[in-house]
Amino acid sequence: MRVAVLISGRGSNMQALIDSCRTAESPAEIVLVISNHPSAAGLSIASNSGIEVAVVDHKNFADRTAFESELGRTLKSASIELVCLAGFMRLLSPDFVNNWRNRLVNIHPSLLPAFKGLNTHKRVIETGVRVTGCTVHFVRPEMDDGPIIVQAAVPVRPDDTERKLAERVLKVEHHCYPIAVRWIAEGRVRVIDERAIIDNSNTTKTWLINPEM
Ligand code: GRF
Repeated sequence: MRVAVLISGRGSNMQALIDSCRTAESPAEIVLVISNHPSAAGLSIASNSGIEVAVVDHKNFADRTAFESELGRTLKSASIELVCLAGFMRLLSPDFVNNWRNRLVNIHPSLLPAFKGLNTHKRVIETGVRVTGCTVHFVRPEMDDGPIIVQAAVPVRPDDTERKLAERVLKVEHHCYPIAVRWIAEGRVRVIDERAIIDNSNTTKTWLINPEM
């Protein structure tokens, strides 16, 4: 499966996807990385890994429609089959999202549908929830909405700062995103009634408690 990753910044999730797709048995291949910021650090990581990169700078377009047309053209000309948003900081229009329905995925650093939007970890700490995590989901027109493919839980510690928590969640993100992409490329993910069903998946754990007893 030909995969593109859309970034706006440092690209650590992109790097995790590149690494995992490099293995011989991977059914997915990262063939293109697109950034809307010419200075995104992830761009040089991708090109140093020998991956084609493109910049589609939203500032060069009159409006969102023109920006997204160019994005669509770039994806099409590389015969992209799956698009992964990885820290891509532009909201995409319903038209674009619907064109890529069930072929467009995102990673968000919380257990959706809780804590949609920005400053997730700060709000998690302020709210006092004991468990947070990350979510990989198919994208729908509403922000941080859509069928959930995989989630991982991360306990919130009493001494957590935004930074410490973000670091722990990010490590788990780097596991979850490659798994979700692999399952999609293997054809094991189906969306039925707006829920993602994963064929042949396991859940052996019965519960998680924080604080521990
Ligand atoms: C990640 O925390 C991701 O969940 C969110 O944006 C951040 C991107 O980080 N959507 P990176 O660019 O992948 O390092």
